[in-house]
Amino acid sequence: MLEIENKRSGKVLKVDPFWLRDHCRCNNCINVETKQRKYNLLDIPEDVEPLFIKFQNDGTFFDIEWSDNHSSTYDFNFLYQSLYEQVSNSKQHNTSRTPWNRSIILQNERHLRVNLTDLISSDGAVKTLVSALIRYGIAFIDEVPPNAEMTELAIRRVFPIMKTFFGEMWTFSDVKDHADTAYTKEYLGSHTDNTYFCDAAGLQILHCLSHENGMGGENFFVDGLHAAKELYSRHLNAFELLKRVQVPGEYVETSQYHKYSAPMIHVDDITDEIIQLRLNVYDRALFNTIPQTEMSEFYDAFRKYLKIVQSSDSQWTLKLQPGTLVLFDNWRVFHGRLAYTGSRTMSGCYVQRTDFLSKARVLGLIE
Ligand SMILES: [Fe+2]
Ligand SMILES: [Zn+2]
Repeated sequence: MLEIENKRSGKVLKVDPFWLRDHCRCNNCINVETKQRKYNLLDIPEDVEPLFIKFQNDGTFFDIEWSDNHSSTYDFNFLYQSLYEQVSNSKQHNTSRTPWNRSIILQNERHLRVNLTDLISSDGAVKTLVSALIRYGIAFIDEVPPNAEMTELAIRRVFPIMKTFFGEMWTFSDVKDHADTAYTKEYLGSHTDNTYFCDAAGLQILHCLSHENGMGGENFFVDGLHAAKELYSRHLNAFELLKRVQVPGEYVETSQYHKYSAPMIHVDDITDEIIQLRLNVYDRALFNTIPQTEMSEFYDAFRKYLKIVQSSDSQWTLKLQPGTLVLFDNWRVFHGRLAYTGSRTMSGCYVQRTDFLSKARVLGLIE
């Protein structure tokens, strides 16, 4: 290990020499335009070491002459703050997200809405919308003419649309276009979509285009982040189990067979943050990823979690009206709907997780 002391601050940078050589940002190592590395890792000698280390006069940058005849300049503070040792020590909880139950979200509803005219004309409105999605995992666009074309126009103003076998923009009613409960009039409990995809959609968008000659069909939303944190504080063992056990999901129809297995609660190994929740009691495949002797413990944990998710103070119920588009984080917010009568047409689409987070980064909302 190399130990490089900054005499001004007294801080000592402890790094692996090969790592440091691999993090040279000079024009020979990095393509300035693409920010991509330009060299083959094997071109750096395995035993590379600094011959000479010297701080510049400003006390923040230091230069190294390497044993492979390469010269590098580094920003001491940048390196110091970026190390795993710092990131994992700080483990401050993510302040860009506010977990919510019904009363919390109702107090903050005004932060969740933009109208289409503002969204089209103002970058500030785009930022308001994406901020709400990062903070609460749910947002609305109002005053959208109720047709699939305007739904698409509103979303494309902010995000590219994800293409799946359902198409890009989909419309659904109780006409059974796909082998899925969504294409019926039945009650649908809180869930996330695409538990059977290798990469579940990051955002989901729904727009009620029409509901005639009937009643019901209210949608409800539950913040999975809040529910998972409740599980953590009330039943730690159950949380740890759901973090570990892989639950397979599948989707089968003519010429489609999607299958994927992952835990219901995915926590980042380094930051300890919850990064993805998968919950869909309907799309579960044959469950054979743990021995039968562990089943009763698993089902007990699953039931404890579902009781929190399905409690009335978790659920925010609202009737989606034609003209209002709801966007929600399919890795965080669970959605469901009450049974309905009459004829109803919904339009919607998905956005890939990576496109959602990229937009949020470009807007300076997350790192
Ligand atoms: Fe769904
Ligand atoms: Zn270099």
